Amino acid sequence: MAKHRASTTWKEKLANAFHKVGLYQMENAVLRWAHRTIDGRPLPGALTLAFTEATHIPRIYRLFDRDIKSRIDPTNYVVKRERNVFEDAIERGGGAVLYDPKNGDVHSLTMAYHVKSMKSFLQDKPHEYTEIGTSLTRLAHYRSAPVVAAAIALKEWWEGDNQTKIVTEILPDNVPSLGVYKNKLGWQAVDDDKQIHDMHTLCNESISLEDKNRPTIWFEVNKAALSTMATLVLKYKDEGRLKHSGKAPDIALDLGALDDIGLTRKRLEAIASGHTNKELLSLVCRCA
Ligand SMILES: CC(C)(COP(=O)(O)OP(=O)(O)OC[C@H]1O[C@@H](n2cnc3c(N)ncnc32)[C@H](O)[C@@H]1OP(=O)(O)O)[C@@H](O)C(=O)NCCC(=O)NCCS
Repeated sequence: MAKHRASTTWKEKLANAFHKVGLYQMENAVLRWAHRTIDGRPLPGALTLAFTEATHIPRIYRLFDRDIKSRIDPTNYVVKRERNVFEDAIERGGGAVLYDPKNGDVHSLTMAYHVKSMKSFLQDKPHEYTEIGTSLTRLAHYRSAPVVAAAIALKEWWEGDNQTKIVTEILPDNVPSLGVYKNKLGWQAVDDDKQIHDMHTLCNESISLEDKNRPTIWFEVNKAALSTMATLVLKYKDEGRLKHSGKAPDIALDLGALDDIGLTRKRLEAIASGHTNKELLSLVCRCA
């Protein structure tokens, strides 16, 4: 750890030297090299939002390589899902990633799992819950998770049935995750015991045996959270970059995937100002 800090310092000195003589591209390149991802890789210069598809599966599994996952999630907060549940969700577009357009590497991920009771299954009804989870990022201090989680939650809401609840469960000591869903995205804590019991029973079905039944706090998306998430996404769109809370360089950010699914600027602005009637929103201009 100490060795890493020392090498960061001389790299920063080198960057300052390039800065002084006006070699800004060299300065930026050294800074990116000095400030690495959590698993020690060079920082990406740009990231693009994408909703998942089957071809992403190998790139997403890279995040779960033991060496990478144990560094970005040392406390093992992200519970394992059954393989078929995970891959089905990826294939149907139930995940959002930020990937490096240069080499395809995935840097941030959040998934959405459809959870359906046997009754709804037999009656061919929509799933009761969309469980948002498996939030992972290789970038420290860039606050990439809020925008990725907001993107997939808004997509699920926009394309889903009005009766489906969008929920997430968080371990009470997972401070960064509470920071994302409760504080940044404004999700509401669920306090209805029957609903909590229902969610625990249904959602735990897809969780691997060793990770079942951990004590969690449940949150759900309500109208206010939709507005908060649309506001946050618009802010990131306007800035066009992820900003580090310290000294590392900005990372250019392309959120065009939201336009592609119909969540255009005008519609996001309407949602941000509290309009959540999807029929009316679909009448709002599709223009970006
Ligand atoms: C949860 C997670 C996805 C959040 O990603 P993120 O918000 O993009 O991550 P950031 O590093 O930008 O963290 C945001 C803030 O939380 C703070 N934070 C991180 N870990 C913290 C901790 N243990 N205690 C207090 N604050 C913490 C960071 O300092 C940062 O604030 P800053 O930028 O002002 O310094 C990410 O931390 C992660 O991958 N965690 C491991 C897996 C996990 O827990 N997933 C969620 C399962 S429900």
